[in-house]
Amino acid sequence: MSSILVLPGDGIGPEIVDEALRVLDAAKARFGLDIDLDHGLVGGAAYDAEGDPLPESTLEKARAADAILFGSIGGPKWDTIERDKRPERGLLRLRSSLGLFANLRPAILFPQLAGASSLKPEVVSGLDILIVRELTGGIYFGQPRGIKEENGERVGFNTYVYSESEMKRIARVAFDLAMQRGKRVCSVDKANVLEVTELWKEVVTEEAKAYPEIELSHMYVDNAAMQLVRAPKQFDVIVTGNLFGDILSDEAAMLTGSIGMLPSASLDENRKGLYEPCHGSAPDIAGQGIANPLATIMSLAMLMRYSLQRGDVADAIEAAVEKVLDQGLRTADIHTEGTRKVSTGEMGAAVAEALVNG
Ligand code: IPM
Ligand code: MG
Repeated sequence: MSSILVLPGDGIGPEIVDEALRVLDAAKARFGLDIDLDHGLVGGAAYDAEGDPLPESTLEKARAADAILFGSIGGPKWDTIERDKRPERGLLRLRSSLGLFANLRPAILFPQLAGASSLKPEVVSGLDILIVRELTGGIYFGQPRGIKEENGERVGFNTYVYSESEMKRIARVAFDLAMQRGKRVCSVDKANVLEVTELWKEVVTEEAKAYPEIELSHMYVDNAAMQLVRAPKQFDVIVTGNLFGDILSDEAAMLTGSIGMLPSASLDENRKGLYEPCHGSAPDIAGQGIANPLATIMSLAMLMRYSLQRGDVADAIEAAVEKVLDQGLRTADIHTEGTRKVSTGEMGAAVAEALVNG
């Protein structure tokens, strides 16, 4: 038996996670999966209930589970509370406490959605990029950090730091994954300005020697941001640090039509993982039943593939998503003329049905 901890979080989190769970039920029915579900609080919801965005009880459950299905966290309600108690800190502590250093963000364009992208169909059609983002280091976690008083004014500061071992292990994840796809890795840095990424570039280049088949290239992050909208298909795997990966993955998500389409996996050394959509909690549309659940449903597919070693189930979930897109069903964010606009629940139900009838 495998165990999954479900952490819906805030905003649209609960709605989209409900749909992923509906799809999980369908997967259980079709494949006879033996999965034990546990539930926990995280983010603003946990702060409201227990005064902590990552209560000890949630962390314990997370450590015990084989995988975690995560919704989204945050919202204006908690933006002004004490910094360490904010929802985002809960997620960052969870990633770091579990050692989830490798964040995989696949940006794949479903042919059915070529018209929903803000770029011309010929620029994005067939797009299949994997962003490998380092997730437990860099400027997100570097010390010292803070806001202080100096010479009569406030000064804000953060530290951008990576050790060689952190750079090596994320490079290896990127190379290993690239070996299973196009064998091309682009390492993104700002080595012309930042020493930490100068070392990054050096270390990645050294690690690449163990992968003679990999074609490694390097790109400054500003150029990478530009190339992603100019000619995104030049990329196969992109490997980069925490902050650059955060930014570039939102950009890559939009190439696929909507940020509502991008799933993610955050893995530790043993492939235990946390699976979450790349988008945020979208408080502006929460509770209206219009959010797109597909990124979360495809995060469930990644969970099957990476943590439960059930690539067959993952393939079936992804095929069910394709089938529903073929049928012309679209949530508001990917809706175009000639397709049928559906609610969060209708989309989830349609994928579940397509999966059962597989
Ligand atoms: C993401 C999000 C998070 C991040 C936030 C919510 C802390 O933007 O997963 O991309 O910056 O990592
Ligand atoms: Mg982000």
